[in-house]
Amino acid sequence: MRRLLTFLMLRKPKRKTLINTPGSLVSLSRQFILMSVLAPTGELLSFASPRQLLHALLYLLHPCSRKESSQRKGDPNSANFLRFSLLARVFEGPSLALRKRAASLPLPLRAYFAKSCDARGGITGDKRLCLTSVTLLIGLSFSGGTFADSTLGLPTLVVPADNPQTTEKITLGRLLFNDKRLSADGSISCASCHQTDKAFTDGLALAKGVAGQTGTRNTPSVINAAFYQTQFLDGREQGLEAQALGPMVNPVEHGLKDHQAIIDIVRKDPNYLSLMTRVFNIQPQELTTDHIGKAIASFERTLIAGDSPFDRYYFGMDQSAISESAARGSRVFRRKGNCAVCHEISINNALFTDNRFYNIGVGYKQLEPVIGEWLAATTHGEQPDYSAWSDAQRSELGRYAVTKMPADIGQFKTPTLRNVAFTAPYMHDGSIKTLEEVIEHYDKGGENSRFVDAKVFPLHLTKQEKADLLAFLQSLTSVRYTQPITARPAHE
Ligand code: HEC
Ligand code: HEC
Repeated sequence: MRRLLTFLMLRKPKRKTLINTPGSLVSLSRQFILMSVLAPTGELLSFASPRQLLHALLYLLHPCSRKESSQRKGDPNSANFLRFSLLARVFEGPSLALRKRAASLPLPLRAYFAKSCDARGGITGDKRLCLTSVTLLIGLSFSGGTFADSTLGLPTLVVPADNPQTTEKITLGRLLFNDKRLSADGSISCASCHQTDKAFTDGLALAKGVAGQTGTRNTPSVINAAFYQTQFLDGREQGLEAQALGPMVNPVEHGLKDHQAIIDIVRKDPNYLSLMTRVFNIQPQELTTDHIGKAIASFERTLIAGDSPFDRYYFGMDQSAISESAARGSRVFRRKGNCAVCHEISINNALFTDNRFYNIGVGYKQLEPVIGEWLAATTHGEQPDYSAWSDAQRSELGRYAVTKMPADIGQFKTPTLRNVAFTAPYMHDGSIKTLEEVIEHYDKGGENSRFVDAKVFPLHLTKQEKADLLAFLQSLTSVRYTQPITARPAHE
């Protein structure tokens, strides 16, 4: 269905017709009607955001466009190009060449609309309609739609119905997240590994928990974790609420004995108790770890960040937001590099993850000595026995630990790539130190192992393509993280 839709909408009309003659409006109207007709089927909702639809509608209603199209034939600076680039976005780019020309227009959208109505003396059409569109557009930008929106490029955050966000709960969650008392020796809080000034990672290859113990995995960022469909690199937890309790009782992380130990610590603090009872409307004795998980999850749902230069370029229609190299890199990412197959970019947002699990050929060396014999044993119907394996080897099983399917060995969740310039070292085992090396890893098609996914293969990228890809990855840093933010004290 979606393919058919895309085909119908993207059929490339003749360029001249589309831009310069009233016929173009007819064809665009037809597309718009098609979209409206399809809206009730729900297809449209996944196809275009309300904002994009409004843009399309504005274009079609805009009286200036009709006048202007006959007055300014073929002028590449014609505002029509800008409007077209908007539409190109709505219909996902029928013509790259046109978008490129639109890119030469530095005019911000708002100014453009104001100008195209006022300054072109010749326009005597329905000024009211003109004004309406200007008002709508300005309203749109102030309503946090297009400009300076810290969530630009992100989908709507889904908050579980049984854990609505409240200011007090978020404060409570932040206190818990930063509280070292919630560990066996008082030395570790969530923030010890998910550090505010390192985009909520720790800069280490492998996480370090209580008593200086080293874990088996690299600390992922918590920024935008709220958007993942599953939590942890192998997806062993569904939601943030459940995830939050895991580290506390993990012997090499917070190292607490059990859930009761968590409750005992929280109960001892009168400040926590009064917050807990207020936030959840409970008596002190009714406090459970569920409440603690909910508060931490609510705090984590505030750690979301879009609005990277790439978002401004791709979703905000600001062609000057990224360098030409990064723009080329975004094409390598989506085409020759095959990256977007897993690190998805959707039509109106980009999480850079498809929430699936793959073996991209990292860490196989650990498994190599033991896996052959083990697989042979399991195919003979014996119980899997890892008793002789090291922790590091067990960790390499990845998604298998959850599904128990041999095909899932060494699979890990596709991570988001937002703020990736700040989250080195990379991969589940922290084995790749820089983004340049990540690119080399993919270029050679991953480590040689029989488990590597077919979507990872030698890419033969040129030096320039690699440099462009790097520039693209660096353009994914949310504007608020371009400067390392300083850690906020827990009591703030
Ligand atoms: C010792 C370091 C350490 C501590 C302390 C720690 N984490 Fe983590 N965190 C990790 C590591 C390592 C992973 C990945 C583990 C895995 O997937 O097996 C992780 C994964 C996560 C994830 C999943 C992210 C994703 O990409 O799926 C979230 C959310 C998270 N931690 C939140 C927390 C919270 C909340 C706390 C405190 C209760 C906490 N962490 C304490 C190291 C730590
Ligand atoms: C088959 C799916 C797939 C493809 C194709 C793919 N990736 Fe990945 N990517 C993953 C998975 C899964 C991981 C995590 C692997 C791990 O931890 O072992 C990952 C990890 C990464 C990381 C490290 C992120 C971090 O925080 O540790 C970067 C950077 C990255 N990929 C960039 C790219 C680029 C660039 C391309 C294209 C050249 C690409 N990926 C292609 C699935 C894929």
